[in-house]
Amino acid sequence: LFEPSSSAPNRLTVELGPRSYEIEVVSGLVREFGPFARRALERSWTGSSCRRALIVTDSNLADLSIPAPYQAALESVGIAAETAVVPPGEPSKSLAQVERLYDQLAARGADRHTLLVALGGGVVGDLAGFVAATFTRGLPLIMVPTSLLAQVDSSVGGKVGINHRSAKNLIGAFYQPLGVWIDTESLVTLPDREFRAGLAEVVKYGVIAIEPFFSFLEQNAGTILARSPQALEKVIFGSCGIKAHVVARDEREEGDLRATLNFGHTIAHAIETVAGYDGPFRHGEAVAIGMVAESRLAERLGWITSDVTDRLVRLLEGFGLPVKAPGLDLPSLKHAMSRDKKNRLGKIRFVLPRWIGQVELTDSPGEDDVQAILETL
Ligand SMILES: NC(=O)c1ccc[n+]([C@@H]2O[C@H](COP(=O)([O-])OP(=O)(O)OC[C@H]3O[C@@H](n4cnc5c(N)ncnc54)[C@H](O)[C@@H]3O)[C@@H](O)[C@H]2O)c1
Ligand SMILES: [Zn+2]
Repeated sequence: LFEPSSSAPNRLTVELGPRSYEIEVVSGLVREFGPFARRALERSWTGSSCRRALIVTDSNLADLSIPAPYQAALESVGIAAETAVVPPGEPSKSLAQVERLYDQLAARGADRHTLLVALGGGVVGDLAGFVAATFTRGLPLIMVPTSLLAQVDSSVGGKVGINHRSAKNLIGAFYQPLGVWIDTESLVTLPDREFRAGLAEVVKYGVIAIEPFFSFLEQNAGTILARSPQALEKVIFGSCGIKAHVVARDEREEGDLRATLNFGHTIAHAIETVAGYDGPFRHGEAVAIGMVAESRLAERLGWITSDVTDRLVRLLEGFGLPVKAPGLDLPSLKHAMSRDKKNRLGKIRFVLPRWIGQVELTDSPGEDDVQAILETL
């Protein structure tokens, strides 16, 4: 389904009418970023007017000198770029950092023709995206995701935002970028644990949408873990293809389709809430545990047999991901789940597998089912 077309082998389009944009997946082609950005801008209402850019990144990436070639690539197409560096990690998704970036944009006299480039993981993407959505009511935005999670998930789909002290991602907007530029080479420096956490979301796409994609992951786990550029291109292309397909049909999560991206996440979010967002689990690790638990829940409903879950467990374990989270307080987990955004009329809704390649949003699990599953965590 999401095999590259021969005319544009590295390119995918997120079909959103006037807000459509391209995702380009490359390996080691940072110089091509300039022409990509120029084309993306020219397709937008800004036309050829952009002369300046602010690249937002975090200090881990700045320390690795990752922004410099992107800055040079922009200069090569006549865009003078400066770089703003935020501290790494979740606390940077804050109003304080938003304000700092507004200050920097204002000090440089930025206007609606100033390009914002989000160069980094999901934290930078969500933060810079929110700034782009709001400064002068909308700056042109290009995503350059550098973590696997950001490359396969957060950079595509237009959800941008920051955290509030009472909840994660509470403040935000839907704001689509003009383009997403993904270079597998940036993953060379990504810490192993971050890489594996990103793979959990990749596995999720196989379960929710395409069995052959899941099989591809099973058959190529070794080359994927070795970060072979060819394997990574396939993994990223497939994942972005599925996400783009879903987002194009339910951009603002108004129907049930976009919610299917939440397979594993009802329980994952509860685990993260109870264990703490800076706690023992990266988001992807919580998703791995959540997918297994939710797959067991589907077994209890008679939707699948245990061999489906076993297959999922094998793949996740092969990627070095946890599949259990013992010792968490059950009442707290249940309380956290009762506040899930997907819930309707007081019932917890889950996205559960019908088979590998198909999921369904459902509120059929009873309290006893949920209790039983949480006991196996
Ligand atoms: N907008 C969405 O649709 C969406 C979807 C999923 C997740 N998110 C958000 O994404 C965030 C998590 O993203 P993340 O996992 O990328 O976290 P992150 O941005 O904190 O990146 C993880 C770590 O990897 C480092 N890093 C990133 N790229 C690197 C590279 N190439 N080399 C070396 N180090 C690198 C970062 O500095 C950081 O320390 C969360 O805030 C989550 O809410 C958003
Ligand atoms: Zn996720």
